[in-house]
Amino acid sequence: MLVRFSMGKCNTTRGLCLLLFIAVVISLVMASSAALSKHADEAMSSSVLVKDQSPPLSAIRKNSDACQDACLWKSGINGSWVQDFDFARDHGQFEKPLVIKDGPFQRRTAGAFQPSEDAPFPWRTSWRWVDHESDCQVDILTLDKFCKVLQKLNVQRILFFGDSLTDAMYTGLANKIGHANFRLNPDNQRNGSMICPVGGVHGADDRIIPVFDKKVSADKVRPNTTRKMIEFDHEVRHFLDISPADRVLAVFNIGAHYHDVNHYRQDLGVMLNLLSNMNRSQDLYIFRATSPGHEGCLPRTRKFDWKVGTRIVPLAKFEDYKVTVGHQHDWDKFEGYNNYTKYVLLEHNRKGLGPIYHYLDIFNMTALRHDAHAAPADCLHFQAPGPVDWWNHFLFTYLSRLSKDGQLRGKGSMREIPTNCRRSS
Ligand SMILES: *[C@@H]1O[C@H](CO)[C@@H](O)[C@H](O)[C@H]1NC(C)=O
Ligand SMILES: *[C@@H]1O[C@H](CO)[C@@H](O)[C@H](O)[C@H]1NC(C)=O
Ligand SMILES: *[C@@H]1O[C@H](CO)[C@@H](O)[C@H](O)[C@H]1NC(C)=O
Ligand SMILES: *[C@@H]1O[C@H](CO)[C@@H](O)[C@H](O)[C@H]1NC(C)=O
Ligand SMILES: *[C@@H]1O[C@H](CO)[C@@H](O)[C@H](O)[C@H]1NC(C)=O
Ligand SMILES: *[C@@H]1O[C@H](CO)[C@@H](O)[C@H](O)[C@H]1NC(C)=O
Repeated sequence: MLVRFSMGKCNTTRGLCLLLFIAVVISLVMASSAALSKHADEAMSSSVLVKDQSPPLSAIRKNSDACQDACLWKSGINGSWVQDFDFARDHGQFEKPLVIKDGPFQRRTAGAFQPSEDAPFPWRTSWRWVDHESDCQVDILTLDKFCKVLQKLNVQRILFFGDSLTDAMYTGLANKIGHANFRLNPDNQRNGSMICPVGGVHGADDRIIPVFDKKVSADKVRPNTTRKMIEFDHEVRHFLDISPADRVLAVFNIGAHYHDVNHYRQDLGVMLNLLSNMNRSQDLYIFRATSPGHEGCLPRTRKFDWKVGTRIVPLAKFEDYKVTVGHQHDWDKFEGYNNYTKYVLLEHNRKGLGPIYHYLDIFNMTALRHDAHAAPADCLHFQAPGPVDWWNHFLFTYLSRLSKDGQLRGKGSMREIPTNCRRSS
């Protein structure tokens, strides 16, 4: 009954149905094979009904705790990169001097760029994401708009926690905000604060948002493995818990360094438990999807003239993104990691377990960006400014939608428990 009822809604909520289907498949696997062959239908509905006390997915759609705005799960997935040098000029560059300086490799390569007629700005900064869901465009992060949305959501601090790609997101945010409004602790460039001027003018009542970035422990590995320990050190714990009632926005990830899906699953569980065990249900936790690598990215020669810069066009569509099965760094496994993560987060939220985990799905939009890697040596990380800035635009847009969604549901300032934004797969 339950299953049939939900399936009837498949036309409008395909993703939901896929997930329901997944849930049913898992229940089926757990049911005994005898029951399966004899009473498959009953086994299906009874295991869903008996083993899972949480509301069915179909009910969550109607639940006031689910997001109303479909862009929260549709945006950033199906779209194109369109060249726009006005965008590059107005939003695509970092103010100099940078808040966080480039390393030697970046200075020698992307940093050596000199403008020319067909490239007044580096090509990699000239692409603007146009979503095919025309009502779900990604808005551009500016200090003013970002500050407003953080205030509306009552966010007091921002934590980035994850691998080098999340580190790049932090660096990109600091450089995008610029030195007038982003200050670093002189002893630690991953410890910063964003200054939100009230009414656009600096003054004594500026809002200060501490921003802290920590990479998953580089020096501690799991016994007898090469896997890093997923744990919060005292700095991260302290940063989260400075005040027990404040809301922290935490952007976190793992993924790119895993070679075995079971290890990934295990460590994702560890990461989620770490956050859950902080008992901070008011926080906003956003898992950022693992971003794709591009085999054989250009330019391939170390003699490339970086003064001239690249003229590479992003891929036109997701189907053009290719990765060899059995890739040497296991980049072919990333889609599976992301798919698993989406499923686990949704299940967690669906069961009403706190805290709510949101999912920032940057995979598809980034899959098209083979043009902006730290090539030729590194086809996973990106040069900056570049595609990673779009993760921050996307994060800002997501938060902005979430704040409006809260209002829609009469939750005003969103001081209450953050919303469960279900996602289609
Ligand atoms: C987005 O990526 C997923 C794989 O992660 C793929 O299955 C899907 O077709 C992509 N969607 C679009 C619209 O490109
Ligand atoms: C992506 O958008 C295009 C253009 O609107 C549409 O034709 C296509 O079906 C969409 N793809 C998916 C997987 O939704
Ligand atoms: C960051 O720096 C400030 C001083 O600038 C210090 O008070 C704070 O404890 C530091 N935070 C972390 C997490 O290290
Ligand atoms: C690590 O390997 C050693 C030697 O094989 C073994 O004695 C030890 O129990 C292992 N430790 C763990 C935690 O598996
Ligand atoms: C979270 O709550 C649990 C159960 O009440 C408790 O055991 C745990 O120590 C708490 N964690 C923190 C970080 O306060
Ligand atoms: C996505 O994850 C679900 C749940 O783990 C699994 O059943 C499904 O086969 C996965 N799909 C892909 C394409 O990996």
